Amino acid sequence: MDHSHEASGPDLPDWVSQRLVSPKAYATDQIDEAYRWARTNNPLGVARAEGYDPFWVLTKHDDILTVSRNNSLFHSADRATTLLNQAAIERTTRITGGSPNLVRSLVQMDAPDHMKYRTLTQGWFMPANLRKREEEVGQIADAAVASFLKQNGRCDFVRDVALNYPLHVVMNILGVPPEDFPRMLRLTQELFGSQDPDTARQLDALSAEQFGAMIQAVVQDFAVYFNAISEDRRRDPKDDLATIIANATIDGRPIGPMEATSYYIIVATAGHDTTSSATSMAMWALATQAGLLQRLQAQPESIPGFVEEAIRWATPVKTFMRSATKDTELRGRRIAKGDWLMLCYASGNRDEEVFSDPYTFDIDRKPNRQLAFGNGAHVCIGQHLARLEMRVLFEKLIPALKSVSLDGDIKFVESYFVSGPKTLPIRFEVM
Ligand code: HEM
Repeated sequence: MDHSHEASGPDLPDWVSQRLVSPKAYATDQIDEAYRWARTNNPLGVARAEGYDPFWVLTKHDDILTVSRNNSLFHSADRATTLLNQAAIERTTRITGGSPNLVRSLVQMDAPDHMKYRTLTQGWFMPANLRKREEEVGQIADAAVASFLKQNGRCDFVRDVALNYPLHVVMNILGVPPEDFPRMLRLTQELFGSQDPDTARQLDALSAEQFGAMIQAVVQDFAVYFNAISEDRRRDPKDDLATIIANATIDGRPIGPMEATSYYIIVATAGHDTTSSATSMAMWALATQAGLLQRLQAQPESIPGFVEEAIRWATPVKTFMRSATKDTELRGRRIAKGDWLMLCYASGNRDEEVFSDPYTFDIDRKPNRQLAFGNGAHVCIGQHLARLEMRVLFEKLIPALKSVSLDGDIKFVESYFVSGPKTLPIRFEVM
């Protein structure tokens, strides 16, 4: 479908549009410069970039909340839910037979299905249930801290701690044993590709047929793997999320194997590199903000505020997309039915109208109105788990550290979807 005529309204300057679609810009402060310009000069503008359908760019906190909360006016699934270029949309649409999204999991659903599927597991992710998991998470954190402390005073915190710990938690709740973690990582990377040259496969070089065959093979692999877990949980229910997914019914009927696979895929993928990024940024803050480590050692009750600010600072999910189901108006501009909109969470989290000194890392923000988890019907189902994981890890790490500082440059992943530190070299002394 050609949507090129649909987005109307004042265009953003070329340099801003280019940065919004450049994965590289997200690994530098170039994206922040573009966001700042847009917030000040054109907070709801249209990006036009070669190879991409035009899209509205929402850089203000308030607009991101308004659109996220109005789920009937702004759908997630009618167009690509994440930013994709036209070639990727065409390739995906061909293999799915019409949908611009490869899988159909919670993030790519709208009413009425979305709530039916979300309700299946929402209770599991609520604080009351998670309290029962704290000990289990604590054991995984103990192992992460032990391996960190063994690093002899120097490590790459991303590689040595932050990447593995949330992956371990998420795999644990899905019932995947440690020997299969690498397979899961590989599958998710193959399914979602990557924009960073260090991990990317050159998907654009594949023909549509090759791409289709590859995706079908990966989804099939996931399906075989998780069908076995589902069968096991039907025979032998446990107190885990896999048991809930395996035995789920909607409108009185068991959910199909593809729906179950999509559910496993979203939990397996949404829950680890996001939390890893925020965890790494928290360590970056400890290594760079004078007196922070000592303050948190003296006042461990401030750790939740520290975690919340690290999540704001990192904003691991940079963008999600929506599309308008009807003609409407926002910030005085006319949005037409079918228009595509980009929610720039990282910009909302630096909005000067909402955060005083947004470029200061401040653990005392009360309330911290960070919107890194989104809002509305799709608000991150794993937000309480992410906070729990980070709090538990830092409650153990902080008392064990005598000092910590940077030992080289922090480098960031190049991606306009999920991104954060790629390497964080640190030097540390233990108590
Ligand atoms: C949804 C961010 C951790 C599972 C979302 C959304 C955001 C987000 C922005 C909203 C999507 C939208 O509006 O379209 C984050 C961040 C995390 C994090 C920043 C860590 C700091 C987790 C964890 C899990 C998880 C730990 C699970 C283990 C999900 C799922 C959804 C979601 C299943 C889809 C919810 C729906 O569409 O109804 N997340 N997330 N996330 N997240 Fe997270």
